[in-house]
Amino acid sequence: MAGPTLLFASNIDDPAPWQALFARERPDVEFRIFPDLGDPADITHALVWRIPDGVLASLPNLQAVFSLGAGIDQIIRDPAFPREKPLFRLVDGGLREQMTEYALYGVLNWHRQMDRYRAQQAKREWRMLEAVHPSQRTVGVMGLGVFGSDIALKLALLGFKVIGWSRTPKELPGVESFVGAEGFDTFLARSEILVNILPLTDETRGILDARLFGRLPGGGALVHLGRGGHLIEADLIAALDAGKLDWAMLDVFPSEPLPAESPLWVHPRVLVTPHIAAQAVSAAAESAIIGNFNRFERGEEPTGRVDLSVGY
Ligand code: NAP
Ligand code: GLV
Repeated sequence: MAGPTLLFASNIDDPAPWQALFARERPDVEFRIFPDLGDPADITHALVWRIPDGVLASLPNLQAVFSLGAGIDQIIRDPAFPREKPLFRLVDGGLREQMTEYALYGVLNWHRQMDRYRAQQAKREWRMLEAVHPSQRTVGVMGLGVFGSDIALKLALLGFKVIGWSRTPKELPGVESFVGAEGFDTFLARSEILVNILPLTDETRGILDARLFGRLPGGGALVHLGRGGHLIEADLIAALDAGKLDWAMLDVFPSEPLPAESPLWVHPRVLVTPHIAAQAVSAAAESAIIGNFNRFERGEEPTGRVDLSVGY
């Protein structure tokens, strides 16, 4: 019987480092790069960011799918995704530090009024703006998983009042936990700065909408590094224009790349980044992926098994 054959598929990632990793660590694995499938019956494993709909379902001997990212919505949105196959997401994989850096940058940029100081600098204007101590500022973190919990803990270490929202209760030092639908409105009403790091599921799709913006205290900031499908773009623009929000830093968008005609590109109080909050480019990502592949091959449980019944 032929050895394992891995299909690599991504519309954004360079396959070369992953091919080199498998050549180094698992030379017995044949590495194929989509769209060069060869005989689909050979393929036993898939390492995927995005693959066209229906391809995974057409692989008769596929045993497992490994996501190149922490999120998997971009894989399971394929209506033909073979839901009976085990799907593993990247757990941390060196992304956590990058995600926390991004969130903290956004929080601190707004909290310390850096955009206003940049505008003053452009006019050579020397003027102190009123400061707010972090203990007087509440940051709400939506999603307290691998990334959200690290973001929340580090914000608490910086002295902010930190509250978090998740599906199940959490005990994190310095972070007040709010849970589910019953805790949501109270959580929002206190979130002067809102950081969204939820996964995209049927429950969370479109969650950043007019209803949510209307429940925030007003005049605060949004740092959005979850998934584009969380955001209703027109509602965000209306909230900014109505003063419900003062500023937004956005890494992910309903349509990526962000279309040239999107008003977000030119909004004076929006910072747009091209889905770069974290990238799987480190040795930690490589060892997470190869470690998971090896565990699966040995019959051990890999990390990050996705529960498709909840969608993350
Ligand atoms: P995770 O460990 O699975 O954490 C998800 C968190 O969201 C958990 O705390 C979970 O609650 C909470 N949650 C899920 N559904 C919820 C709901 N309906 N209501 C309230 N809370 C809910 O995921 P992660 O590793 O932190 O990753 C989160 C997401 O980050 C990924 O799915 C991906 O979309 C995004 N991401 C973005 C980038 C980027 O570059 N912008 C990079 C990587 C990942 P429980 O703890 O109660 O289960
Ligand atoms: C990136 O967005 C990821 O899900 O890892």
